This record gives sequence, structure tokens and C-alpha cells, in this order.
Amino acid sequence: MDLNLARHRFLVGGASHGLGAAAARALAAEGAALAGTGRDPRTLADALGPIGGIPIAADLSTADGPPAAVRHAVDALGGLDGLLVNTGGPPQGSFAALDEAAWERAIAGTLLSSIRLIREALPYLREGRDPAIVVILSSSVREPIPGLVTSNVLRPGLAGLIKSLVGEIAPIRINGVAPGRFDTERVRSIDETRAAETGQTVQAIQDQTRARIPLGRYGDPDEMGRVIAFLLSPAASYLNGVILAVDGGLIRSLP
Ligand SMILES: NC(=O)c1ccc[n+]([C@@H]2O[C@H](COP(=O)([O-])OP(=O)(O)OC[C@H]3O[C@@H](n4cnc5c(N)ncnc54)[C@H](OP(=O)(O)O)[C@@H]3O)[C@@H](O)[C@H]2O)c1
Repeated sequence: MDLNLARHRFLVGGASHGLGAAAARALAAEGAALAGTGRDPRTLADALGPIGGIPIAADLSTADGPPAAVRHAVDALGGLDGLLVNTGGPPQGSFAALDEAAWERAIAGTLLSSIRLIREALPYLREGRDPAIVVILSSSVREPIPGLVTSNVLRPGLAGLIKSLVGEIAPIRINGVAPGRFDTERVRSIDETRAAETGQTVQAIQDQTRARIPLGRYGDPDEMGRVIAFLLSPAASYLNGVILAVDGGLIRSLP
């Protein structure tokens, strides 16, 4: 299938590691032009250099970060046809472990950053070709994750944002992806924390997680990158308001 992305321009959040970097690779492989964000300029340059992406060093958890990143991308690309909303995961912990500062970081880094990115990008996307937004959510939109209360609270809020915007921003399409467990730095750090908390080895934690995934393994980030590139492309032209689980069958809830 041709995704028809050779003339499209994207801003990819969190493009230096993990799922965002994989999405950037998939879009670039389809011939799209892109700019990507991350806080560390060095890792961002390492990720985007080989694929010809434009690095935009920005902290998306600040009030000024998202608008500045969008404007930089529009200037560099000459417009915007698609946006991947991906701003780094919220702080880990059970409710008892999270203080006021952790909640403020979570809300700024996961919720406000997404709202600000979308709000700033909309006027440019309205002028774009086959405009589309994808928001990276989590399996927590379908089932709470133990020890990740911030995600359990904030991701369903973003799912509500997607469903609200569907009625407001068409013909711009907006969809979400709900990753289960992909082999990324964030998931490695979550597994290490869980191992330390429970006195088990990281290997034991990973084995328990794999046993819950019908495909028996963590996802490769490129398996998510391809799904995101498809959702952002004209090949997915009638998909709108969908929250797609990409989890190897982990979550069994309906639908
Ligand atoms: N991997 C999974 O299985 C999984 C499952 C459920 C949900 N998710 C969610 O999916 C998203 C991506 O996860 P991942 O596993 O790909 O994470 P990752 O490997 O840690 O990558 C996160 C990316 O976001 C950037 N980033 C983090 N905070 C940022 C900020 N404040 N401003 C700008 N860029 C920022 C990071 O670069 P810098 O550190 O240089 O800024 C990096 O490029 C996260 O929101 C995560 O919670 C992932």
C-alpha cells in the first residue's frame, strides 16, 4: 500500500527515543518531511540526522514549549499536514507516593502539553494536505495500570479530548493509539522501578508482563511507528475518533 506521504509535512513529538523516534523513521521512510522535538539536543540530532528530520530542542511541558515548537516546524517545513502528540510519560507511582509537585508535573507534561500542541497546530493544519493528528495514549485508557496512577487519570482525559475534537475540527482527522508494552527506555525504567519495589529481578518482572501478552513479547517500537504513519496518512482517510490498541492483545476489554 502506498501511504501517499511524499508531499506531507509532520511535527513529531518526543522524536529522539522510543515510539516517537519510530514514528519519525516510518514517516521518513514513506518520503514525508518532518521536524521532531525532544529536550536533549544531542540525542535528538542522533535520531533525526540519519533520516533528514529537522531537530527542534524544546521542553513541551512548559507553557512556551509547544507553541514555539509548532511555529519553528511550520517555518522550517513551509506548513504542516500532520501532528504526532507525544510528550513523554507522566511520573510513576501509586496515589500514596505522588505529592502535589508530581501531579503538577504530570498535568503539565501529559495533559497541558498535548492541549497546547494541538491548539497551536490547528490553524496550520486547516491549511494542510489531508490533515491529521495522532495522540499517543496508553493501555490505561482501557484498564488502569498498577503503579501508574497519573497515566490512569490523565490518559482517559486525552481520550475524551480526542472524542470532543472529532466534532469540532473536521475535516482534520484525530485518532489515538493505546500502546501496551513496547521495548523503550520508558518501559525499561518502569520495569526497573517495579523490580526495586517488589524485590524481584527486572527479568522476573519482564517475564510476568510477557506472560500477560498473548503474542508473548514486548512490542518493537517500529511496530508502533508503522501504525502511526498509517493513521497520519491519507491511506487512513476515513478513520476518525478511533483509539487503537497496539498491544499484542494485552487488553481484552470491549470494544
Ligand atoms: N513504550 C510503551 O510501551 C508505552 C506504553 C504506554 C504509554 N506510553 C507512552 O507513550 C509515550 C512515549 O513513550 P516511549 O516509551 O517512547 O518513551 P521514551 O522512550 O522515554 O521517549 C520519550 C520521548 O519524549 C521526549 N520527551 C520526554 N519528555 C519531554 C518533554 N517534556 N518535552 C519534550 N520532549 C520530551 C524524550 O526526549 P528527551 O528526554 O530528550 O526530552 C523522548 O524523545 C509516553 O507518553 C509514554 O507514557 C508508552
